[in-house]
Amino acid sequence: MTDSWAAFGADLHIEPVGPGLRSGLTAALREAVRSGRLPPGTRLPSSRTLAADLGTARNTVADAYADLVAEGWLTARQGSGTRVARRAPVARRSGAGTAPAPRVRRRPVHNLLPGSPDLSGFPRAEWLKAARRALTDAPHEAFGYGDPQGRVELRTVLAEYLARARGVYAAPERIVVCAGFVHGLSLLGRVLRRRGVREAAVESYGLDIHRDLLTGAGLRTPPLPVDGLGARTEELAGMRGAGAVLMTPAHQFPTGVPLHADRRAAAVDWARSRSGLILEDDYDGEFRYDRQPVGALQGLDPERVVYLGTASKSLAPGLRLAWMVLPEQWVAEVLEAKGGAEWMPASPDQLTLAEFIASGAYDRHVRSMRLRYRRRRDALVAALAERAPDVRVSGIAAGLHAVLELPPGTERSVVQAATWQGLAVQGLSRFRHPDLASGPEGLVIGYGSPAESAWAGALDALCRVLP
Ligand SMILES: Cc1ncc(COP(=O)(O)O)c(C=O)c1O
Repeated sequence: MTDSWAAFGADLHIEPVGPGLRSGLTAALREAVRSGRLPPGTRLPSSRTLAADLGTARNTVADAYADLVAEGWLTARQGSGTRVARRAPVARRSGAGTAPAPRVRRRPVHNLLPGSPDLSGFPRAEWLKAARRALTDAPHEAFGYGDPQGRVELRTVLAEYLARARGVYAAPERIVVCAGFVHGLSLLGRVLRRRGVREAAVESYGLDIHRDLLTGAGLRTPPLPVDGLGARTEELAGMRGAGAVLMTPAHQFPTGVPLHADRRAAAVDWARSRSGLILEDDYDGEFRYDRQPVGALQGLDPERVVYLGTASKSLAPGLRLAWMVLPEQWVAEVLEAKGGAEWMPASPDQLTLAEFIASGAYDRHVRSMRLRYRRRRDALVAALAERAPDVRVSGIAAGLHAVLELPPGTERSVVQAATWQGLAVQGLSRFRHPDLASGPEGLVIGYGSPAESAWAGALDALCRVLP
């Protein structure tokens, strides 16, 4: 098993190059063998597995393998699969008077960056089925410019789903479909500014791109401290200028803790007493592994909380499909800010998602991915206990990422060591608000990101760089 592709985790070597997929894949594999990065005897993944990871037809991979078998780079035997040929030439060392080996673009071999689901898990067949049904049934007007609020079919299905699965108080009229969470956030930033709000507090750990969207809309973004119980919402009362707050209550990003019940109440109390608005980023609310997810904060006060959900974690970020559930008073203004010329997910995609959810395929997909990510998190925790016992995983069993706590003064060198080992990871400090001078050190590990066949290799590589 140690020579399997999964253990090897060699995603780099199968990045097709050039125009044709078959010839590009053949060239990439040949180069990987030639350079010695796939040593003799290495077992390659089955054509089915590799095709699934690459998102291509199985025949394309099978043909590329066949070409390389014919050229002598690979061998194929019944029962032992496809392997790198024992006699395949390995890379010549440079400086020996030979022509230099072609330069291979340096890219991380293992991707453990947070922010992406396992793209190889996208439910292609079910999505296609839903698209076929949705487009067959769609009226002609569905191919027109469309309602800036989003297709009513999608808003109706979302209202039912969000109420059932996330405890959101939703009605189709309150929902606005947008092209990703970022789109919703930038619209809200603009409307807040138009309403005269000057400051939107943000959690002291979060994504700079989200902060930048708010500052781009003309808002200041002071940090609201985060600790082991989530954002310290009781401190909002002292932030005199804040008219809004952006939060991740179900699973703080990136520290991984849920917002404590008292703090949920404090946030709502603040919003009521100051006419403030809470922007609830529920980016991975479906993925909780130890218990039922806590319901959305929006359920506590739908007139003071905007719920923002996205398909980026549950399905794929490439869909650019997200939704906001707005206080009734905000719908018209958000739509006005949006206007008719804004970007919008394509109507056929909206209809496909509506059908995908209504048919039960979304629930099934979420359940199956939940199992996949849960297994990965369990494997991560077990591997660390055995191979890096001084490193603790913080946060709850949820989501697609985890924070590994590191001893003070080590984060930088660990991230550097990881980079040298071809492992893409991010340090916790990267997510710290610029107004904070210091904070705990750690790694934010996106265990959801690798394809299924690359996960074991990525985990192994991670354990090798940890102190
Ligand atoms: C904290 C957080 N919020 C929201 C999102 C979703 O953003 P979008 O819907 O724009 O892809 C992500 C995705 O990475 C995220 O990490």
